[in-house]
Amino acid sequence: MSFEIDKENMSSEMVLRQAAEIIDAEPWYVAAMSNLSALIMASMDRLNWAGFYLIRGSELVVGPFQGKPACIRIPVGKGVCGTAIAQNAMQVVPDVHLFPGHIACDSASESEIVIPIHQGEKIMAVLDIDSVVKNRFSEEDAAMLSELVRMMEQKLRWE
Ligand code: SME
Repeated sequence: MSFEIDKENMSSEMVLRQAAEIIDAEPWYVAAMSNLSALIMASMDRLNWAGFYLIRGSELVVGPFQGKPACIRIPVGKGVCGTAIAQNAMQVVPDVHLFPGHIACDSASESEIVIPIHQGEKIMAVLDIDSVVKNRFSEEDAAMLSELVRMMEQKLRWE
């Protein structure tokens, strides 16, 4: 498996095709999440963090990611990630400074998108992506990333 990744010319379809190849090659969640965070970081511009938080008991614990070392634990209901879990809904935050309770792991973050990942009905994790600019995540980005998460929900192996 080899990848030609060019931030300037990566269509949503190309990113999703490469994501499918990554998951099909190894559906175990640790391997897939590691390569998917690398794919997102390499194919979307103006990001400073892309990765996953995993549910462990009543909190989220950091999983595979690309970017600076991040907060390790986030209680459900706290921050953008914990809110996505509590509401079981995608959060698109155009300006993190205006989000009550935003947890700043990296002071460079200006906007953020978080999408819950399920196994059946159960929430297992979130995809969390941070950008160095405000309003980074368009409706097209949200649709592409939701499709990527849908693919993960269908294909990931959690043990
Ligand atoms: N900003 C997140 C914390 C995780 S970092 O962005 C990697 C939040 O408020 O939940």
